[in-house]
Amino acid sequence: MKTEAVNLICIGADKSNLAVLGVGSGGGELDVQMLSLMQSTFSTLPITADVVEGSTEMLAKFKASVMKCDNLQKISFTWHIMPSEEYIQKIKGKGNVRKFDFIHMIQMLYYVDDLTETIKFYHSLLNKNGRLMIIIESTDSGWSTLWTTFPNELCSEVVPVYRSSSDILASLKSLGLKYEERFIHNTCDITECFDPNSKTGQRLLSFLTFREHFYQSFTPQIRAEILNLLRSRCGTQKEGKVYFNCNLSCIFVQA
Ligand SMILES: C[S@@+](CC[C@H](N)C(=O)[O-])C[C@H]1O[C@@H](n2cnc3c(N)ncnc32)[C@H](O)[C@@H]1O
Repeated sequence: MKTEAVNLICIGADKSNLAVLGVGSGGGELDVQMLSLMQSTFSTLPITADVVEGSTEMLAKFKASVMKCDNLQKISFTWHIMPSEEYIQKIKGKGNVRKFDFIHMIQMLYYVDDLTETIKFYHSLLNKNGRLMIIIESTDSGWSTLWTTFPNELCSEVVPVYRSSSDILASLKSLGLKYEERFIHNTCDITECFDPNSKTGQRLLSFLTFREHFYQSFTPQIRAEILNLLRSRCGTQKEGKVYFNCNLSCIFVQA
C-alpha cells in the first residue's frame, strides 16, 4: 500500500469528523484532488476545509474549482484571505484554538518570514494522530543547486533566502518533531533554454530564475554562468537533451 494512503487512513481513523487546513494553497489544484480523495475514502465523515492564502486572485480560482466539483459539495470551506503571518497572529490572539487532523503546506515555505516558528505554530494546531504534510524542493534538486550557487543574483524581496528540504529537516530536528520523508522524483526537459531564439527556452529561464525577462535581468557573464550550471550540474543529459532535476521532498510530521 502506498505511504500516502497509509497516512490518509491514519488521519481518518476513529474520527467523527475530519478538519483539513491548507496553507498557501494557491489556486487549489492539489487541494481539490486531496479533498476529493478524502471525501471518497471517508464518505460518511463530515469534512471541513480551512484555507489560508495571501492571494485573492488565487482563491477566486480555487473557489471556482470547488463549485465545479460535485464531490466537494458536502465539504464546508472557510476562506482566510491573508498571509500565514497574519493568520498566526489572529489565532494566537484567540483563547479557544481550533485543531486540525491534516494540515498541508505545499511549495509555500519559501515565502514565510520565520520558517521554524511557522512550522512550530502549525504543528501546535494538530489534533491527536494528525499530520502536517510539507512539500518542498529537494536539496538534491536542480532548483537547490541553481539557487544556492547564485543567491545574490536570484534571491529577492519575494524569496529573500532560498530554502529546500534540508532547511525544513533542520527546523524539525531543532523542534524535536517526528517525521518521515519521501521523495517525489521528477525531471523537466530544459534543452530549449540553450537556444537563445527559443521563446519556450526564454519562458523556462524566466520560470527557473523567477525573473520576467532572463536576458535583460542578468549580465552576460552571469547569464553564461547560469546556463553552464543548468547544463552541467542541475540534472542529466541524454541523447542531446538536458533534463532539469525537479525532485520534491514530501515530509509527514506527526502530531
Ligand atoms: C508556489 S504556490 C503553491 C500553491 C499550491 N500550494 C500548489 O502547490 O499548487 C505558493 C503559494 O503560496 C502563497 N503564499 C506566498 N506567501 C504566503 C504567505 N506568507 N502566507 C500564505 N500564503 C502565501 C502564494 O500566494 C501562492 O499561492
